[in-house]
Amino acid sequence: MTILIKNGRIIDPMSNRDEVADLYVEDGIVSQVGKEIEREAERIIDATDLLVMPGFIDLHVHLREPGLEHKETIETGAMAAARGGFTTICAMPNTKPVVDSREVVEDIYKRAEKAKCHVLQVGAVTKGQMGAELADIREMKQAGICAISEDGKSVMDSKLYKEAMVIAKEEKLPVFAHCEDKNLVGKGALNAGKKAEELGVEGITNAVEDIITARDILLSKETGARLHLCHCSTADSVRMVEEAKKEGLLVTAEVCPHHFTLTEDDIEGSDTNYKMNPPLRSKADKEALIEGLKNNIMDVISTDHAPHHADEKAKPMAEAPFGIVGLETAYALTNSELVEKGYLSQKQLVEKMSANPAKVLGMDKGCIGEGKVADIVITNPKEEYVIDVNEFASKGKNTPFNGRKVTGKVKYTILAGELVYEA
Ligand code: DOR
Ligand code: ZN
Ligand code: ZN
Repeated sequence: MTILIKNGRIIDPMSNRDEVADLYVEDGIVSQVGKEIEREAERIIDATDLLVMPGFIDLHVHLREPGLEHKETIETGAMAAARGGFTTICAMPNTKPVVDSREVVEDIYKRAEKAKCHVLQVGAVTKGQMGAELADIREMKQAGICAISEDGKSVMDSKLYKEAMVIAKEEKLPVFAHCEDKNLVGKGALNAGKKAEELGVEGITNAVEDIITARDILLSKETGARLHLCHCSTADSVRMVEEAKKEGLLVTAEVCPHHFTLTEDDIEGSDTNYKMNPPLRSKADKEALIEGLKNNIMDVISTDHAPHHADEKAKPMAEAPFGIVGLETAYALTNSELVEKGYLSQKQLVEKMSANPAKVLGMDKGCIGEGKVADIVITNPKEEYVIDVNEFASKGKNTPFNGRKVTGKVKYTILAGELVYEA
């Protein structure tokens, strides 16, 4: 297929481009970028007043397949990704079975062959995510995992985690860290604060996250492993990332849209669509996260897309599972909350949603220069609309953002030269 994208504002930090121009796609590749390209194409997209950017890369997605297909499948999750402007997603390993062996990785890659998004699998750190014995990290690397992570929990045994980091460094795999002290968190459901007290549920203090964040940074320093901190939610995590970077450590960090958009004060009644892990925090934490993104201390915006079935989320706050869907709202929330409000430039949005995630993965992605794979997203940054869960491609409708008015709409998503989504 050939596609000619006319007159869009092409923002591509990696090739240092920000200008109105045309872009020609053929055989899955960006073959030409320049002013007034006059060539025949099977599809011509008028991108006047639209942004043309490298497809977004989400380092943190839960696809739920195998084993939890009532929540999401690779197919529906990848369709949700395409609707959200994502062309690459990293699938976390807390499925059933857990992704802890070569066989499971190979099976998932076979299932993902026809998906409307590139799917990269993350391998677990320990067998069954039980925290006792290391998973087959080297074998999973051979099968093509992009990182290791115990997401959903932390490996509490520091010695075992350090051993995993040594292997990760040797295998050139980043470690994606979910930071949560299992003993300290107890039965915590919401941030330790007014709302938890009001609803009579146990609170999750900032230290639950910060203690493990500190430990993981220190272990990265000792082993030289590349550490990527998932879903940072506290002011102190930003401070620690800043310190680590000053020291020149291989540490990067992500923030999720819900954490820079909402605080615990926004939780409506006992609506479990506001329950995720880590939880919505205080205003001071939210402000620190935004400041960290603005100053480029925080590198990446990821979704932690965590679909759950409505029946599961219908349980009381203390018992409902943690997590909200994010793939189909991430761009609009980032544009509305960070770009429109003046915290981030358009270029920074592309860095945090595409170029920087590619760097964390160490992959030739996140760039739409000539000769690159044509993974492209086209958006209207000024279009206003109301988020409607009924339009989601995801099986998960668990979001606190249903009915929210936002600015910034994904118009087209192109995956390896194929138009996979059109608004
Ligand atoms: O909110 C969350 N949901 N946080 C996690 O760490 C796990 C995830 C899930 O798998 O549902
Ligand atoms: Zn997590
Ligand atoms: Zn997660």
